[in-house]
Amino acid sequence: MQKPILILGACGQIGTELTYALRDKHDNDTIIASDIREGSEDLMSSGPFELLDATDYNALEEVIAYYEISEVYLMAAMLSATAEKFPMRAWNLNMNSLFNVLNLAKEKKIDKVFWPSSIAVFGPNTPENNTPQNTIMEPTTVYGISKQSGERWCNYYHHKYGVDVRSVRYPGLISWKTMPGGGTTDYAVEIFHKALSDGHYTCFLKEDTKLPMMFMDDAIRGTIMLMESNEEDIKIRSAYNLSAMSFTPAEIADNIQRIVPDFEITYIPDFRQEIADSWPSSIDDSIARRDWGWQPEFDLERTSELMLRNLKNKD
Ligand code: SER
Repeated sequence: MQKPILILGACGQIGTELTYALRDKHDNDTIIASDIREGSEDLMSSGPFELLDATDYNALEEVIAYYEISEVYLMAAMLSATAEKFPMRAWNLNMNSLFNVLNLAKEKKIDKVFWPSSIAVFGPNTPENNTPQNTIMEPTTVYGISKQSGERWCNYYHHKYGVDVRSVRYPGLISWKTMPGGGTTDYAVEIFHKALSDGHYTCFLKEDTKLPMMFMDDAIRGTIMLMESNEEDIKIRSAYNLSAMSFTPAEIADNIQRIVPDFEITYIPDFRQEIADSWPSSIDDSIARRDWGWQPEFDLERTSELMLRNLKNKD
């Protein structure tokens, strides 16, 4: 039987779908969703839900003891664009929540941790195309600095204290169930909503800004796959590169136009352009493929089709 799992940040873009996926797979009562705010009625009523601040060590420890939690997925974080506006709040949230969970694992109060890293760990000096697992990083955003530091701490806690922590560097994630909040890759979700509601989208990135992206189903499957892999197969304890597709705003607009022929896009880049320019265009994830069998399933065409179909049905 599955030992209880706690998801922190369960009402966010990734947390929501992760909670549903884990509840589909296991007994709902063993998947404890938590967030600092309430989520959708469906998420909160389909299994246990706790209002919980991931930066509050004592509250976290209490929930973990109460439910006899074995695994924690720490999905609470402030994303790249918002973090540029609130650097200290982002640092405090992103780092303190991670330390809380790593320390609980060090104290053997939990057995296994998932913590997401990001392509934001890379910076302008990183090789831009097919970015390797091990390369120059030097992130220039608050969010990227917190993720790179987080990776080093995960690696440290694993080697020093034997903590079983696992991580991937997510690319931009495209999903239809929950909106992303405060990220630079959010345009690739907003564009589908606007295509259906307005037939027009004003993009905050330039038309030729190529970024690594992934459909949420791939991200969730990859995450659970990594967590279910044998401990000895996980050779990287910072975070694995993970990749599915790369495209520009012009290319995604083109795909949408095939289904919504009157769709129009205009470009008014803002401060997020500089963030996007500091990130890679494509990622080499061959080590994740080798170590635990990662393989993406969704390309841009399929993603566009599924996004438009599911968003249309949702209304
Ligand atoms: N998608 C995130 C962001 O744009 C990167 O991890 O902030």
